[in-house]
Amino acid sequence: MKRIGFIGLGKLGLDCAEVFAQHYPVSGYDIYPRTSDLVKVSSIENTINNSDWIFIAVPTPHADGYDGSVPSSHMEPKDFGHDAVIDAINQVNQFATDSKKVVLISTVLPGTTRKNFYSLLDKKHQFLYNPYLIAMGSVKWDMVNPEMVMIGTEDGDRTALAGELIDIYKPLMKNDPRYIVGTWDECEAIKIFYNTFISAKVGLVNMIQDFALKIGNINVDVVTDALAASTMRIMGPKYMTAGMGDAGACHPRDNIALRWLAKEYDIGYDLFDTVMHAREIQAENLAKFLVNEAKQRGMSVVIHGKAYKPDVPYCIGSYSTLVGYYVKQAGFNVRYVDPLADDPTEVVSEMVGPSVVLWAHNRKITYEYTGEQDETKAYCDIPRGSVIVDPWRQLADVDGITVIHYGNTRK
Ligand SMILES: NC(=O)c1ccc[n+]([C@@H]2O[C@H](COP(=O)([O-])OP(=O)(O)OC[C@H]3O[C@@H](n4cnc5c(N)ncnc54)[C@H](O)[C@@H]3O)[C@@H](O)[C@H]2O)c1
Repeated sequence: MKRIGFIGLGKLGLDCAEVFAQHYPVSGYDIYPRTSDLVKVSSIENTINNSDWIFIAVPTPHADGYDGSVPSSHMEPKDFGHDAVIDAINQVNQFATDSKKVVLISTVLPGTTRKNFYSLLDKKHQFLYNPYLIAMGSVKWDMVNPEMVMIGTEDGDRTALAGELIDIYKPLMKNDPRYIVGTWDECEAIKIFYNTFISAKVGLVNMIQDFALKIGNINVDVVTDALAASTMRIMGPKYMTAGMGDAGACHPRDNIALRWLAKEYDIGYDLFDTVMHAREIQAENLAKFLVNEAKQRGMSVVIHGKAYKPDVPYCIGSYSTLVGYYVKQAGFNVRYVDPLADDPTEVVSEMVGPSVVLWAHNRKITYEYTGEQDETKAYCDIPRGSVIVDPWRQLADVDGITVIHYGNTRK
């Protein structure tokens, strides 16, 4: 029988420990006195040594004034505090007489476990990052009915250790959840972007509410109900593959126009300024990546696909040309290959010598909703020695050509 220990019996830890206690022997420690009919509340030393698995559920607090209950967007952003987690790790090092499986469930930002915690833990122990999607008021229900269980390991592989933790969870679960195994960093990112996606979504629907009040003749529910039922594009997995930015004749200019409307009706904030600004910086970051590769290898930059998407000629609102703009701003020439492009500026029909090629078009991802399954074929010969930067991370290695999957930094 696996023995479970909890360090931190607060709002999250105590309820979760009690759920485990319905299936396993559980002991727990908190710096404040806690009581429970199910969990054996004990000293730190006993908790550690009476457990094979040690779950850390201590606070990772934000600084004062950063909880969102008062205005804070004007203040300098700050990371969560890590002192309590570091203290818990030190306690495991100090008191454990044999090897432990340490599971951090507190919320931390992507990269934190690798950078701040793992090096502190004695190497005889093993470390997993396993954040919960749990809301106050329904902790116990949420724990056994999660949308997914995220298990972070050092290299993201479904190691025996991750498998063991899944086996520990299985008897608890009431809804047969997805088990996602990734790197520590990926699971940190899934957790924090899960929450912030919700903030972005609520920010958008509340913006429609603001417009309803200002413009009149709009029931916000009619608008949001129609959008909520739009499962072809905006709800569901569509547009959930990172790659080139939003583009075309409609989306960018709609955002830009809504910026104007927000000002016209004095909404008091400009969400789409941020969205459009981020789109531009993301294009600039990609351009800098291309330029850096090109500089290192003494090659030129070619963007494969100039129109805003494959199979159409329209270069209006194209993210390819936005990236090209920033390539030129970094002092490099840019050429495009695209047999359909309706704007022939800087378009060439073939590549002269090995180049750094941005694989901007991906037919399968763009048209998958229509049932289209064919990948984009090269618009011209790609010379041997070239480097393809694939922001969709779909291209397989090609003989004599290096393929870089932009956005995958796993070793
Ligand atoms: N509460 C939730 O619904 C929820 C949901 C998901 C994630 N989280 C995350 O879980 C973590 C804990 O959240 P919480 O709401 O339970 O916080 P909390 O403040 O209610 O509980 C933390 C507990 O840890 C104890 N503690 C502090 N330092 C300690 C130490 N060095 N050793 C032992 N115990 C110590 C505190 O006394 C407290 O009882 C945070 O990172 C939070 O972001 C919370």
